[in-house]
Amino acid sequence: MKEITFNHRKSSIIGMGTWRLGEGDLLETQKEIAILKYGLHHGVNVIDTAEMYGEGKAEKAVGTAIKGFDRDSFQIISKFYPYHATPELIKDSLEKSLKRLQTDYLDVYLLHWRGNTPLAETVQGLEAVKKAGLIKSWGVSNFNTDDLKELAAVPDGENCQVNEDLYNLTSRGVEYSVLPYQKEHGIDFVGYSPFGSDNNEFLKLKNELGDVAAQKHISIFELLLAWCVRNNDVLTIPKTSSTDHFVSNLKAIDIDFTPDELELIDKIYPKPTKEEPLDTI
Ligand SMILES: NC(=O)c1ccc[n+]([C@@H]2O[C@H](COP(=O)([O-])OP(=O)(O)OC[C@H]3O[C@@H](n4cnc5c(N)ncnc54)[C@H](OP(=O)(O)O)[C@@H]3O)[C@@H](O)[C@H]2O)c1
Repeated sequence: MKEITFNHRKSSIIGMGTWRLGEGDLLETQKEIAILKYGLHHGVNVIDTAEMYGEGKAEKAVGTAIKGFDRDSFQIISKFYPYHATPELIKDSLEKSLKRLQTDYLDVYLLHWRGNTPLAETVQGLEAVKKAGLIKSWGVSNFNTDDLKELAAVPDGENCQVNEDLYNLTSRGVEYSVLPYQKEHGIDFVGYSPFGSDNNEFLKLKNELGDVAAQKHISIFELLLAWCVRNNDVLTIPKTSSTDHFVSNLKAIDIDFTPDELELIDKIYPKPTKEEPLDTI
């Protein structure tokens, strides 16, 4: 399986998204937990969650799924709301997340999106919980290049380890300056919603892309996922509650493209040629 260096560690290039997990009935949640376990058993060693997802229900499901696994063999990313971004509220949110996750620490803790709290205050809070051993690293999400530069300018802001943004074939804006900036400054990039989230319309629009997928004898989902990791510089975190889809996603990350195929895809969904407003979900 393709690997990437994430948070200073060797990691699978695919992680497991958990948005909307744990929100259904018991049977559904059990199925979702079983898929997370399946992933961990098959070498997928990053889980992305947040206090926002089902107001803690996703973190609870993750907490059940990781029981019995060596805690050091996988990494957990969680996120706090922007209105919990002061030092006291960060500590409070984090302690609640750790309780739901039934773990002593997070590998990465992210500010979910930018709010009104000054970045300097948020960084101070994150550095404090890092010093206390409750998190290994911290980062941000839904930041554009200007936001990242502003963050780098506050005390300890250069310790930002991760930025997580929307990244898929129809949202390529980050390729223009976010990805190059992060590469230059050693900030790991996590790309969320590789399939455009639960938006079914997204896939209906892709006739020409369907032709490329058909020629490669892969599904359009496999094409979308393989494309996200084509340069080995993005950790992609699809969400699935289906074992068949999980197997297909695992297969996808090892699919390569020829330069001609990539050129064809670029014609269907062109690369950004200028700074674009950051796409978010
Ligand atoms: N930082 C942020 O602000 C932010 C924002 C959004 C998302 N995220 C993170 O990114 C993760 C992924 O994004 P997402 O949940 O929005 O959406 P996504 O991963 O782009 O798409 C999920 C959808 O794709 C379907 N799917 C997955 N694999 C498939 C396959 N092989 N074939 C067919 N359908 C497939 C899933 O259905 P099935 O379950 O039926 O497979 C689900 O409907 C989230 O779960 C979350 O952890 C972060």
